[in-house]
Amino acid sequence: MRLFIGFCILFLVGCQSSKNEAIAKKETVYEMYKPSEMAILMNEMYLINEKIKAQILAGEALEEFPEAYLKIHTATLTKPTDRDDFFNSFSELYIDRGREVYNASKDELVIKYNNAINTCISCHQQKCTGPIPKIQSLLIQ
Ligand code: HEC
Repeated sequence: MRLFIGFCILFLVGCQSSKNEAIAKKETVYEMYKPSEMAILMNEMYLINEKIKAQILAGEALEEFPEAYLKIHTATLTKPTDRDDFFNSFSELYIDRGREVYNASKDELVIKYNNAINTCISCHQQKCTGPIPKIQSLLIQ
C-alpha cells in the first residue's frame, strides 16, 4: 500500500504536460510507471537542494559542488523534444548559478541559493509546471 501511495505522489508531482498523457498514465498500472532519467535526476536535485537549504539555515558549511547537476545535459527526458535551445540555455544557467552558491561569501549565500532555485522555477514555467509549488518550497524566505 505504501508503495502504491508513493507512485501516486510521483504521478501527482510529475509534469502533467497534457491531459491525454495524464489520462493515459492514470490508466496504466502504477507499478509499471517508469520515471525517465531526467525525472530521477530532478528528484535528486530536489533532495540535494533541500539539504543545501537546511545547511544554510543551520549555518553549516556546504560540501562539494554536486557533480550530479551535470547529468542534466545527457539524461533522457520523458519527452525528448523538451531538449531544445531554451532547455539547453537554462541548463547552463542552472549549473552556473549552482556553482555560484559554492563560491558565495556568507553574506551572499541566501541570495545566490535563491537565484539558483529561481532558475529551476524559470525553466519549469516553460517546460513542466506541475512541480513548481514543490520547488518554491525550497526558497529561503
Ligand atoms: C533546464 C530546465 C530545468 C531546470 C533548470 C530544472 N528543471 Fe526540473 N524538470 C524539467 C523538465 C523538462 C522535467 C520533466 C522531466 C521528465 O519528465 O523527463 C522536470 C521535472 C522535475 C520534477 C518532477 C520529476 C518527476 O518525478 O516527474 C521535479 C520535482 C523537478 N523537476 C525539480 C527541479 C528542481 C528542484 C530544480 C532545480 C534544483 C529543477 N527541477 C531544475 C526542467 C528543468
